[in-house]
Amino acid sequence: MTKITAAITAVGKYVPDYILTNKELESMVETNDEWITTRTGIKERRILKGENKGTSYMAIKSAEELISKKNIDPKEIDLVIVATATPDMQAASTASYTATKIGATNAFSFDLEAACSSFLYGMSVASSYIESGRYKKVLLIGADKNSSMIDYTDRTICIIFGDAAGAVLFEPNEEGLGFQDEYLKSDGSGREFLKVASGGSVLPNTKETIEKKLNYIRQDGKTVFKNAVFNMADVSEKVMERNNLTNDDISWLAPHQANKRIIEATGNRMRLDASKVMMNIQKYGNTTSATLPLLLADYESQLKKGDKIIFAAFGGGFSWGAIYLKWAYSSK
Ligand code: UT7
Repeated sequence: MTKITAAITAVGKYVPDYILTNKELESMVETNDEWITTRTGIKERRILKGENKGTSYMAIKSAEELISKKNIDPKEIDLVIVATATPDMQAASTASYTATKIGATNAFSFDLEAACSSFLYGMSVASSYIESGRYKKVLLIGADKNSSMIDYTDRTICIIFGDAAGAVLFEPNEEGLGFQDEYLKSDGSGREFLKVASGGSVLPNTKETIEKKLNYIRQDGKTVFKNAVFNMADVSEKVMERNNLTNDDISWLAPHQANKRIIEATGNRMRLDASKVMMNIQKYGNTTSATLPLLLADYESQLKKGDKIIFAAFGGGFSWGAIYLKWAYSSK
């Protein structure tokens, strides 16, 4: 019997219209375009404006783009996973709402949260469901409205994050393409270094937490930076070794877009030519769960059937990992 592998067969994306430039940030906090560009590589990021629009708004738009590009009937979708660190609400699943709104009325759905590794872990989960033979169409969406947890008076954080969503469809493949291997890790001793302190079950929001601005994301940038550089490269190298891949074999590195310097350091450790390292952080900043699908959407026209791609991410928790996948189609 042919082994079933799980391949990505379509991608979609959505970025909000509003562009927050480095220039505009200069008028909001004590910063400048040169500092932001040299330290992070970011030039601009997108912000979702408008009342009553949450993460699901972008998740729905990215899924709708995928559905129309691929020309599928949403009723055929078996499962919708929304990877997100900024769900619409506590308790009510963002994925359930998204699935219903896109017409995936035969699907079950759930949210998956692992900070900046949410989408990477989601790739593992989606692939496992396909490989098991139980489901044929799994829609994985990475979406985050990071602006909902940013203090726009804190220059160390507000320059980094943006809002966006990206979607991929996983389907069975009988040519051995798609998901090949993974090396996923986590370490809870890193939780203090990147977090939103209040609003969860440990410290629900009160007047006092709001006054102290504990409801915003904060990080110890240097500690996160060092851990990200070391760990993203470490897991990527492990996946290369385990699959006997040299730098020449690899077609692309698709790294989480948190900082241009982290991305370049990971590529260098893998001895990859810069032309093989996907990067769009300059346009969107760090979009948390959306970075990996946004890369696929932006690079889709350059990807060829059989391309060997290493995905790598690092984020809060700490959580991190790498996935090796063979691309399943060439764009027309
Ligand atoms: O996706 C989740 C994972 N997150 C990450 O991977 C983020 C990892 N960390 C980083 O990307 C970097 O640490 C940052 C971009 C957040 C910061 O860069 P850095 O090179 O580590 O700078 P720093 O925090 O050490 O700050 C250096 C200086 C400080 O001034 P002093 O103390 O040297 O006088 C900061 O106050 O730069 C100052 N600074 C700024 N200056 C202008 C911090 N933010 C800014 C700013 N504009 N926006």
